[in-house]
Amino acid sequence: MTDTRAPGHAASGAMPATTAPPAQLSSRHFLGIEGLNPLEINGLLDRGNVFADIIQNNGLFEPPLSDMLRGLTVLNLFFENSTRTRVSFELAAKNLGASVLNINVAGSSVKKGETLLDTATTLNAMHPHILVVRHNCSGAVQLLSQHVDAAVINGGDGRHEHPTQALLDALTIKRRVGRIEGLKIAICGDIANSRVARSNIHLLSTLGAEIRLVCPATLLPVAVDSMGVEIFTDLEEGIEGVDIVMMLRLQTERMEGTETPSQREYFNLFGLDRNKLMRAAPQALIMHPGPMNRGVEIDSATADDVEKSLIRTQVEIGVAARMACLEALAGGGGAP
Ligand code: CP
Repeated sequence: MTDTRAPGHAASGAMPATTAPPAQLSSRHFLGIEGLNPLEINGLLDRGNVFADIIQNNGLFEPPLSDMLRGLTVLNLFFENSTRTRVSFELAAKNLGASVLNINVAGSSVKKGETLLDTATTLNAMHPHILVVRHNCSGAVQLLSQHVDAAVINGGDGRHEHPTQALLDALTIKRRVGRIEGLKIAICGDIANSRVARSNIHLLSTLGAEIRLVCPATLLPVAVDSMGVEIFTDLEEGIEGVDIVMMLRLQTERMEGTETPSQREYFNLFGLDRNKLMRAAPQALIMHPGPMNRGVEIDSATADDVEKSLIRTQVEIGVAARMACLEALAGGGGAP
C-alpha cells in the first residue's frame, strides 16, 4: 500500500505512528463544515490520521478501537447514487464494531410515494443510532435531522455540502504535504453545482489555505463574492503556481443544459492535461473527489500519474476520515 504520509512521519510496526483522542463535536449531528471551528476540524483530522496509519500498516482494528461502536446500528440511507461514500461509511462503521444496514432506496417504499420525513420517522421507530444520509435536495439532510433521535451524518445534500469528502481531502493533503496553512489550492470545474467545492472552501480556508475557484463564468456559484476566494475563468491562469489542483466533475444531472459548451470544447478550455499542469508549481499534486469523467475534466495520463495524482489515496483515506466522524458522534452524545 502506498505511504501517504509526509516525509519524516514514520510508521512504527503494527501500532499507529500517531496518537490523538477521539474528536469532540459541539453538535450531535454532522451536517456540514460551515460552522465547525478549527479545534473541531483539527480534532477530526488528527483522529482520522491515527486510523489512516492503522489502515496503511495493514493493521486490524482491535479492541478497544474495534469496540468503539459495538452495540450501535449505523444506517446508510442514500437517495442518490454513491460508490465511495456509501462503501467507505460501511467499512468505517464495521471497523469500529457497529452493525450496518444499507437501505436500498430504489427498492423501498419511497418508490410508492412515501415522503422523506415519513421514511425518516419510520426508520427512526426502529431505533438506529447513526443515520448516514445522501439526498439530491440541499437542506434535506438537515430537515431530516430535526425529526429523528439518531445522530445524522450528511453524506452529500444537493449543491450544499459534502462534509466528509472535505475532511478526507484535507487529511489526504496533510498526510502528503504535512500542512494546509499557506497552501495555494485551485478548485476547478463545475463549482456552481458542487457540494464538494462548498465544503472544501469552508474547511481549507478555515485552516489557512489560499483558495482559487477556476471555472467558466456560467459555473460560478451564487454569493461567490462572500466566500473569500479568488476567481479565475481561465484554467492556466487559475492554476499558475498552485500547490494543489482539485478537479471537479461536470454535474450534468444538476444542470439545465446551457451552462457549458460541448464536452470536447470544455476539455480544451477547462480539462486538465500535462501541458496545462505545467503552469502549476513543480511539486503540485492533483486531486478529484470522483467519480471522474475522463476526457471531460481530466485526461487519463494526468489522473493516473503515480507521482502527482492523489485520487486513489483520497479513496483510501476516506475510510479513516469517516471512522473519525462516526466515533465522534457515538461519543459525543449523538448516539445513545
Ligand atoms: N466523492 C463521492 O461522493 O463519490 P461517490 O458519489 O461515489 O460517493
